[in-house]
Amino acid sequence: MKKVYLVYFSPTKTTRTIVRQIAEGTEIKDIVEVDITLPKNRLKKNNDINDDDSLVIFGMPVYGGRIPKLAAEYLKTFKGNNQPTVTVVVYGNRDYDDALLETADIVKERGFNIVGAGAFIGEHSFADKNHDIANDRPDDKDKQKALTFGKIILTKIESNDLSKPKIPGKRPYKNYGKPLKLAPVKGKECTNCMICRDICPVHAINEKGIADKDKCISCCACIKSCPENARSVKTPIFKPIVIMLSKCKKKEPQTFI
Ligand SMILES: Cc1cc2nc3c(=O)[nH]c(=O)nc-3n(C[C@H](O)[C@H](O)[C@H](O)COP(=O)(O)O)c2cc1C
Repeated sequence: MKKVYLVYFSPTKTTRTIVRQIAEGTEIKDIVEVDITLPKNRLKKNNDINDDDSLVIFGMPVYGGRIPKLAAEYLKTFKGNNQPTVTVVVYGNRDYDDALLETADIVKERGFNIVGAGAFIGEHSFADKNHDIANDRPDDKDKQKALTFGKIILTKIESNDLSKPKIPGKRPYKNYGKPLKLAPVKGKECTNCMICRDICPVHAINEKGIADKDKCISCCACIKSCPENARSVKTPIFKPIVIMLSKCKKKEPQTFI
């Protein structure tokens, strides 16, 4: 196995951390990252991955028990050559519901041969220092599990075992919930550095740092990337959601081979 492709959507970077750890665990040196988070990286209409001697890892965050709609749509532009493939979701310690199955269904349909899958935990996009929702995850233990998973996957492939894992989830998938449209607002600490505008995965933030609530996917990347901690959500429904999420029982990574 010469090469590993990492294809991921990761506004607050926990999914990226996990897929990178899995890749490191395989000890394959040639790593090609296809980060589809920013709009400028989702312009190509066809993304063919033709190398025979490669492993492909797809990583998606869980939004409402599914994967983000725009990421699901863009996944359909990828085409594989029956390469061994791993699908991964990262969720904020509530549940991943049908997200892993949805990811696997999409990439299978696009010519990728799934040999492993995993659900890992990442700090919830809605967490902050006052509301602990899996704060600081993936932690060292999670990262070690991802590393070991990468090692196991490579051993499986090298022993010519290309059997398909049984992936949890239900069809039809859970309905998308009503969009939260959190549209974080800026406070007086804002210095107009425009990092928030540049990292927004849907170009929802304008030159004045104001988010368009109809475009916003509530990913909170703007909040977490702000060097001045100047952005926050003021929508009244947000606080009870955050409190509910902070009470979820601690989850552990699950892998399927
Ligand atoms: C709009 C939205 C919906 C979410 N829904 C869920 C969910 O259903 N279950 C869950 O456990 N976490 C949920 N999360 C949390 C993310 O799955 C989690 O924070 C993940 O680590 C984010 O990945 P990223 O860091 O790669 O962006 C949601 C986050 C957002 C922004």
